[in-house]
Amino acid sequence: MTDITGASIRLDGVVKQYKGTAKPAVQKIDLDIEAGHIVAFVGPSGCGKTTTLKMINRLIEPTEGRIFIGDRDVTGEDPDKLRQSIGYVIQSGGLFPHWSVSKNIGAIPRVLGWDKARIAERTEYLLDLVGLDADTFRDRLPKDMSGGQQQRVGVARALAADPPVLLMDEPFGAVDPITRVRLQDSLIAIQHELAKTIVIVTHDFEEATKLGDKVLILSEGGKIEQYGTPEEILAKPANAFVEEFIGSGATLAHLTLTRVKDVDHNPVVTARVGDSSREVINRAKAAGATWIVVVDDQGRGRAWPSLDEVATKERISDYVDPRLPTVAPSSTLNDALDSMLAASQGGVLVTDGRGAVTGALTIATVMAVIRGQLSDARADEEQVTYSDHTEGTA
Ligand SMILES: Nc1ncnc2c1ncn2[C@@H]1O[C@H](COP(=O)(O)OP(=O)(O)OP(=O)(O)O)[C@@H](O)[C@H]1O
Ligand SMILES: [Mg+2]
Repeated sequence: MTDITGASIRLDGVVKQYKGTAKPAVQKIDLDIEAGHIVAFVGPSGCGKTTTLKMINRLIEPTEGRIFIGDRDVTGEDPDKLRQSIGYVIQSGGLFPHWSVSKNIGAIPRVLGWDKARIAERTEYLLDLVGLDADTFRDRLPKDMSGGQQQRVGVARALAADPPVLLMDEPFGAVDPITRVRLQDSLIAIQHELAKTIVIVTHDFEEATKLGDKVLILSEGGKIEQYGTPEEILAKPANAFVEEFIGSGATLAHLTLTRVKDVDHNPVVTARVGDSSREVINRAKAAGATWIVVVDDQGRGRAWPSLDEVATKERISDYVDPRLPTVAPSSTLNDALDSMLAASQGGVLVTDGRGAVTGALTIATVMAVIRGQLSDARADEEQVTYSDHTEGTA
């Protein structure tokens, strides 16, 4: 793991009562967030997630209490200065519409007086980090990009001045489910590289368990119902509210807790455009494969033809399959199943942080994991019955 560049966050008796309201939106909250961790805030609409988040960068002023970042009490700091050291990402990316991508990303560095060369270098680095090709996107306007691409720029912009803390308010709420999984996996990869402290607000408990080292479950008035790791919360919901909130999600929770990197992958045979089909088929047969993956210079998948399809041409064709299903090591088994279903395929390709194909995961593997977990769960139940019984007779 990289050095932690994030800072801890502490909320100490923080209250927010909006003017003209009878009850506080957030009643006295105490919270410790460890440096280098991702914490996900979840809870029903109106429970105070956004209010709590915005008090950390003082877009909303607390009515009472103190907030520390590292060991700095930031409650008395100049809010504009403070916000230069805290990245902030909102749902639709929040980009300035009339500014190019590079102008958006350079916004805070310009305020901080960085020179042009340093800003340009930082912009290249960040675009690459969030998985966008700098030459293609540097001069684009936000309106000429997809929602997912805009969201990636939003993350790059928030990271521009290398802040120790990143706050994200439902950043992936407005994109389709497959893009959402990709963005989540990018965020996990970025976090592995940078080790910032990230607070992310989401409506979705599954997203919270996937992203959060810890999950904070809030109810109305910013009341903490439970704060713990996803495993702790799923194994031991603190109360009826939490149980209800995680609800039916809990049955499939194992699929969320188990990551692609935790299960065995099938090796894949790769080939490049223009390779001799006969040579590739021989290599695939020797490896016992019935299909291959055509990859580009960076090892990213282009298509995955069967050997029969390969045999119809003398050389590997330059066809690009637009629906090639891929997952990252940090994807959950649930994400993997979703991608298979969306592409109507019995498997997915596994890629590394930069998109290069490293193997494949088949539906058979996923099903075997589910069956294993179901029988483990049943064995646990039997054990409980058995020990109850022996206690009863002792
Ligand atoms: N400026 C304001 N003035 C008065 N009340 C407000 C203001 N902003 C928010 N509230 C109230 O404070 C409570 C918490 O709002 P907040 O936006 O923090 O909720 P949330 O958990 O982020 O909800 P959602 O999931 O819908 O985004 C709500 O009851 C809301 O109506
Ligand atoms: Mg909100």
